[in-house]
Amino acid sequence: MTPSAMQFISPLTFQALSGNPVHTELFDTDDGCMNAGGRAMHGAIAEENAMGHINLARWADALVIAPATANTIAKCSHGLADGLLSTLYLAATCPVYVAPAMNQAMWNKAVTQQNMQKLKAHGVIVIGPEQGDQACGETGFGRMSEPAEICSRLLAEPKEQFLKGLKVLISAGPTREPLDPVRYITNRSSGKMGYALANATLKAGAEVTLVSGPVMLTAPVHADIVRVETAAQMYEAVISRASKHDIYIGAAAVADYSPVVMEQQKIKKQAEQTTLTLQKTRDILAEVAQLDQRPFTVGFAAETHDLEAYAQDKLARKKLDMIAANWVGHEQGGFDSEQNALQVFWANGQKTLAMTDKNHIAEQLISLIAERMETKKA
Ligand code: PMT
Repeated sequence: MTPSAMQFISPLTFQALSGNPVHTELFDTDDGCMNAGGRAMHGAIAEENAMGHINLARWADALVIAPATANTIAKCSHGLADGLLSTLYLAATCPVYVAPAMNQAMWNKAVTQQNMQKLKAHGVIVIGPEQGDQACGETGFGRMSEPAEICSRLLAEPKEQFLKGLKVLISAGPTREPLDPVRYITNRSSGKMGYALANATLKAGAEVTLVSGPVMLTAPVHADIVRVETAAQMYEAVISRASKHDIYIGAAAVADYSPVVMEQQKIKKQAEQTTLTLQKTRDILAEVAQLDQRPFTVGFAAETHDLEAYAQDKLARKKLDMIAANWVGHEQGGFDSEQNALQVFWANGQKTLAMTDKNHIAEQLISLIAERMETKKA
């Protein structure tokens, strides 16, 4: 328990209810070793007096930080070790789960989201937070997931590596189409959806190549990352690799049009109105689907209206195996959000994936892709 946790509930209450000793101090004279029943164990390791935090970290099969406050998340993401909990996090080699809980404004603050991205990049598994009424009287994302939900995520069987042996190519993020040396046309894509898909695909055992537009995210450690800026560069990077991959997922928000001319010098402010002449870019997704040796091809559709009609049209016109459609321009989900909801379509079928964390929805989409690939093969 952290000092803040002890403001809410005393260690004695916690100990009485759980039947286990409660650790509160960094330099605990207790050795911190436990057996499965939670009783202190005294062995050779116990000789390391005052090193309880290291032994606690060695002993655990999993570390769950619940509720994880903005303060604890900030400390862990920056590697601070100024208390028992942050030190335990740093010393732990087991899987770490974090269930954030805080006021919705604190959760939405850019610095908290950056800290969460860092934790995810370090391999931390994030559970929640959920949306709803908060103790402070506000409503929004920040409620800790229900303890039963945390337990079920924790106890879930480790995912079988159902994509082992396969190579998956994923595009992510926006493109930037230069107008002159200092200006460009772009969109609101953060790359979060594509990066979450890369992480979920790696977890499922596949080899991943991630073609990424300019984003502020940490690349998944085990992915082969190809960084590009323009739609033309993304086209080259994807088309030259697609035939060597089993699956292509186009999660990038590729510019549909790019300036016909890139001025070599900064465009000067002169006329009251000006016009840009734009040229259609090449459709990467459609061209991947037309390759002789085409991978299982999955597109995205980002729509502000008529979601299903536009998604079905793209599925058929671009000859895709599957399309994941998401609403954009709404308060929740889509561009630059931590959450997303998807309506997935394929020939004669569809499935709705409800609004949740992008990492979670990415796992669901990857499972669905594996399922559809199997059906197609059969
Ligand atoms: O990056 P985030 O902030 O996490 O946001 C995620 C997202 C909203 C960007 C993502 O979920 C998403 O919807 N990506 C596709 C965005 C898009 O460009 O949609 P579209 O409907 O305009 O394009 C349809 C498909 O064609 C997409 O798979 C796109 O990658 C592809 N395309 C489009 C144009 C082009 N020149 N080449 C393409 O391959």
